[in-house]
Amino acid sequence: QTLQMELDSIEKGGYEHFMLKEIFEQPRSIHDSMRGRLIAANNHLIMGGFREYENKFINAKRIIIVACGTSWHAGLVAEYLIEDLARIPVEVEYASEFRYRNPVITEGDIVIAISQSGETADTLAAIELAKSKGATIFGICNVVGSSIARASDAGAYTHAGPEIGVASTKAFTAQVTVLTLLAMIIGSKRGTIEDSKLRQLMIELENIPAKVEKALELNEKIVEISEEFKDAPNCLYLGRGYNFPVALEGALKLKEISYIHAEGYPAAEMKHGPIALIDENMPVIVIATRDSSYEKIVSNIQEVKARKGRIIAIVTEGDQVIPAMAEYVIEVPETSEFLTPLVSVIPLQLLSYHIAVMRGCNVDQPRNLAKSVTVE
Ligand code: G6P
Repeated sequence: QTLQMELDSIEKGGYEHFMLKEIFEQPRSIHDSMRGRLIAANNHLIMGGFREYENKFINAKRIIIVACGTSWHAGLVAEYLIEDLARIPVEVEYASEFRYRNPVITEGDIVIAISQSGETADTLAAIELAKSKGATIFGICNVVGSSIARASDAGAYTHAGPEIGVASTKAFTAQVTVLTLLAMIIGSKRGTIEDSKLRQLMIELENIPAKVEKALELNEKIVEISEEFKDAPNCLYLGRGYNFPVALEGALKLKEISYIHAEGYPAAEMKHGPIALIDENMPVIVIATRDSSYEKIVSNIQEVKARKGRIIAIVTEGDQVIPAMAEYVIEVPETSEFLTPLVSVIPLQLLSYHIAVMRGCNVDQPRNLAKSVTVE
């Protein structure tokens, strides 16, 4: 018994839970997911699995992404990235819906399947279906040798290392990193990114682990904020552009492990429904880093404030405007808009973690959830 307990704590590397360990591992796991693929100083940008299907990617009329849960959120980030950088239309599908709706799939399609475990039944079935229609399957998995990795024509591993906590953290940032590399590679081959922009992005991506490290320093501050909001029955997460999928992911993290009802929304959609929920008791987490939708999201914050919602804002370091409007401000390091999710998701992971711990929840094994869902 005691020996087992000691083994457990060694495995957790001194952290109280696997989830916290995995959150703090991210500077390293993001770095690992780029290893051998990106060296900015040498202008080196390659992905082994891509090479054989290079022409397919260059000529693809569209890319369909299939995934579930957090991996589906990584897929949404990839939609923005691939459309922005490589100018190929992208559709992001819940694997479970895609597989049952008689989707239109042709031989020219590329299907990217994203899965941490590589064993999710719906995702596996979706790619089997796409394969039977002649599509090319590119798998992005964390677990080496997993079913989805084996069923794919080609792919890239995320190399995040084993993820034990049921709520996905480091696997998500590794997926987003690999998808960013992929979007950059496709864009450079298709000639849809200028060389100077590509170079800049390579340098900036290499700097991401250090920025994530910096974002992790917010931990103490987030403990304080968690104390304040731990008893909330509901929570709303808002973001636009690259931060819209981050809002969804933040809400998912909170509901998964703290059992607080949380919803993520594109900030502009708030007026079509969720705004009705806002009163002086409603925590609203707004991801409002300085990017192309900054001005717009500032007005969304004003709309929330006018209805007395309690605003927790994730902003870029040095923001002068939002601190005057929000009850709590969390500053994250500045980065390229394309890479924002990798940094802005960190405080949201920490927030859900601390709230769940304070509520006495089983963080690593939340009720009713499984790490990998091998039944449909
Ligand atoms: C389960 C897990 C989630 C995960 C999802 C997809 O719901 O609890 O954390 O995001 O499955 O899993 P996958 O292994 O395919 O990424």
